[in-house]
Amino acid sequence: MKIVLKNLTKVFTNKKTQSEVRAVDNLDIEIPDGKLVGLLGPSGCGKSTTLFMISGLQTPTSGRIFFGETDVTNLAPEKRGIGLVFQNYALYPHMTVLQNIMFPLTNQKISKKEATNRAHVAASLVQIEELLDRKPAELSGGQQQRVAIARALVKNPNVLLLDEPLSNLDARLRLQTREEIKRIQRETGVTTVFVTHDQEEAMSISDFIVVMKLGVVQQVDVPQVVYDDPINLFVAKFLGTPPINSFLGEIRNHKVYIGNDEIMETEFEDQEIYVGIRPEGFIVADDGVLSCEIQQLEVMGRDVSIIAKNAACEKPTLRAIVDADIKVPATGLVKFNLKPNKVFLFNRETEYRLGKEPIVESAPIENEQPIEANEAGESVSTVEE
Ligand SMILES: Nc1ncnc2c1ncn2[C@@H]1O[C@H](COP(=O)(O)OP(=O)(O)OP(=O)(O)O)[C@@H](O)[C@H]1O
Ligand SMILES: [Mg+2]
Repeated sequence: MKIVLKNLTKVFTNKKTQSEVRAVDNLDIEIPDGKLVGLLGPSGCGKSTTLFMISGLQTPTSGRIFFGETDVTNLAPEKRGIGLVFQNYALYPHMTVLQNIMFPLTNQKISKKEATNRAHVAASLVQIEELLDRKPAELSGGQQQRVAIARALVKNPNVLLLDEPLSNLDARLRLQTREEIKRIQRETGVTTVFVTHDQEEAMSISDFIVVMKLGVVQQVDVPQVVYDDPINLFVAKFLGTPPINSFLGEIRNHKVYIGNDEIMETEFEDQEIYVGIRPEGFIVADDGVLSCEIQQLEVMGRDVSIIAKNAACEKPTLRAIVDADIKVPATGLVKFNLKPNKVFLFNRETEYRLGKEPIVESAPIENEQPIEANEAGESVSTVEE
């Protein structure tokens, strides 16, 4: 079932102080049928609120929600055909696993026999058939989470909504369970929204990613494109471990400078910028364009992490990852050449990537032109900030 969110907005108003939080601001996305979309962003950016609005547990302040062609904005949660899984799996402790999974069916007019059959199908999907007689307390965290997923699937939902379903699991189990979720999603073909603040999790599991910041969507695309072609500094910084290195830089005469080092040419005009360089974008070279001072090396099997200083780096140190075969001195000066597709330039003020700035939308003028493009100096200058 396709999900369409149209200008979806949720404003929470504190009754005492009358202060407002725009938890979700004008969200406009379409989730194709049968896909798994990752809602990704830092704590408080509105991921859960978005999910709750899709589920019907929260009512939007404005905007519409469609499942397929049906407007479900005012439909009660239980009528939407959703399966929900939360971070803390909230199983009923006094019930067996089987009873837990069957529970969503007990209020429906379904025979006990059919309910049991469907519970078995859901249990086999998440591979916990041998656990059906146990109580939740007798299960590991990962097993409990699988029970919760089976319970969400037992009603054959149109839409599966998962809110940080893996965050209570240890690292290994997280990895394993996320692969499971992907498999289950593929096998059932259920349209799924997966909320996480973990970029690696989102990258690995999603057909496409929605990156959010302060209630506002930043970028929607397949994971690799969001990584390779970030729209702004926030997105560039949010995806990738170790994170992108960010430098104060400048463009002069179509040349990009970090400090006094001229690192590359550019088509863009003179301005102050941020230069983002992914850790894998550095190449150690005697004739390198960027000089840094090595602080420490971390050898990690295939790779070496070079931790180095550069005065223009936003952080005290930068991190470059190079092949373990490459000879790198343990201290002293190191010079890097840069892989052009791993270097991104951002407007210092707006933090948009150069060339990716949105066209101003605020002016109610048809056939709107960018302000500076109007050389006749006519009425277009009524555009207001
Ligand atoms: N019931 C509420 N009343 C008032 N403010 C709320 C309410 N629920 C959420 N908020 C606020 O809305 C914003 C978004 O919250 P939300 O829970 O959607 O974030 P999130 O992205 O899920 O964060 P996390 O990763 O921490 O779970 C936050 O600023 C939060 O404080
Ligand atoms: Mg949340």
